[in-house]
Amino acid sequence: MKRIVQILFVSLMAAVVISACQTAETRYETRWAGENLAEILVNLEDQLGGFDQTMIETNYRYNELYWAGMDENWDYARYQLDEMLGSLEKGFVRRPAREMSAGQFVNTAAPNLMQTINEGNKEAFMDMFTRFAASCNTCHAMEDVPFIQMIIPEKRTSLVKL
Ligand code: HEC
Repeated sequence: MKRIVQILFVSLMAAVVISACQTAETRYETRWAGENLAEILVNLEDQLGGFDQTMIETNYRYNELYWAGMDENWDYARYQLDEMLGSLEKGFVRRPAREMSAGQFVNTAAPNLMQTINEGNKEAFMDMFTRFAASCNTCHAMEDVPFIQMIIPEKRTSLVKL
């Protein structure tokens, strides 16, 4: 008998917890994202944006990366290249079809540049950065946006103390 009471008590507690969770979910009130789950998800996807958002971030990191290398702040350069690759990965989740054209960038240009960073070799970095930029442009050509041509940064615009 005591055992049955125990089982009943545990079941009751589980039911209370489950219903509390469900209530919390149904009680969630959105402000702008949508009226129902399907609508919310679609709106949030739209708000996150497509590959252009990835590229706006990539562009920022490209600039920071260059000046980090010029100033031989190798930790910062490594950080920027890592973050850029992480951001690209997220971009491929949004737009999987783009991943193929980025192969040469992800598998060759980026690791080659990372090697110069790890070696702390400024000369090699500058040389490799030109090829790195060309690799951005190769992908742009492959993805039908050849009019987006990256150049080697000329003016320091970074506000980070390097
Ligand atoms: C998948 C291959 C790919 C790679 C690699 C790539 N890009 Fe892009 N980039 C694109 C595409 C595609 C667009 C157009 C965005 C869109 O269609 O949504 C773009 C757009 C851009 C834009 C314009 C963004 C805007 O909307 O204002 C910039 C700037 C840019 N890329 C910089 C870079 C830089 C810098 C690199 C290298 C460090 C790079 N890209 C590497 C594919 C790539």
